[in-house]
Amino acid sequence: IKNLFLVRHAESEYNLENRVGGDSGLTEKGRKMAWALSRHFIGTPLPYVFTSNLTRTREMAEPLLETRKGLTIHHAFKEFDEIDVGTCDGLSYAEMEQAQPELFAARARNKYNFVYPGGEGYATMAGRVYRGVKKALYLSGNSEYMMIIGHQAVNRMILSDFLFRRAEDVPYIFIPQDKYFHIVSTQTKKLFELRKF
Ligand code: F6P
Repeated sequence: IKNLFLVRHAESEYNLENRVGGDSGLTEKGRKMAWALSRHFIGTPLPYVFTSNLTRTREMAEPLLETRKGLTIHHAFKEFDEIDVGTCDGLSYAEMEQAQPELFAARARNKYNFVYPGGEGYATMAGRVYRGVKKALYLSGNSEYMMIIGHQAVNRMILSDFLFRRAEDVPYIFIPQDKYFHIVSTQTKKLFELRKF
């Protein structure tokens, strides 16, 4: 049995302003949530924690690693970095719509296949995210528990790797910042549970 805890980083500075991309850190509220996450998992052996290479997921993992020094191995994977929004980096959704209405409309029409100019789309990021999941499963070997701390688009892609979903629905999966998916995967079945921390 493999238990995967799929977490999204808590509130970041950019989340507060509805901005995409960037590499902002967690807000005060976000840091409190990171401690809440660490407390929630106090009784669970977590030999492996995987994050992206971005500040907000690393900060989300900090209290967890701090309280488990020498017990938890941390890998920061670029494969789990948030969707690259190319030339839209740093814009809020409102600014994007105002500056590039055609781009905004094209994205709304076909969010899964839309690719940000100079960046990625859901369809084009799938390969590297799935590669990250494979690498994480391989590195965590026979351990029963593992955690991935990712991002909104990344976690949607990871869920779609485990769940059967129509591609066009994937960019709309709800990925909260105060709950995590507990995914239990066996040879014969997969169970999903959304739990608060
Ligand atoms: O808003 C946070 C964020 O992680 C952005 O960095 C990213 O572009 C976005 O979510 C992905 O979600 P959506 O595809 O719904 O805009």
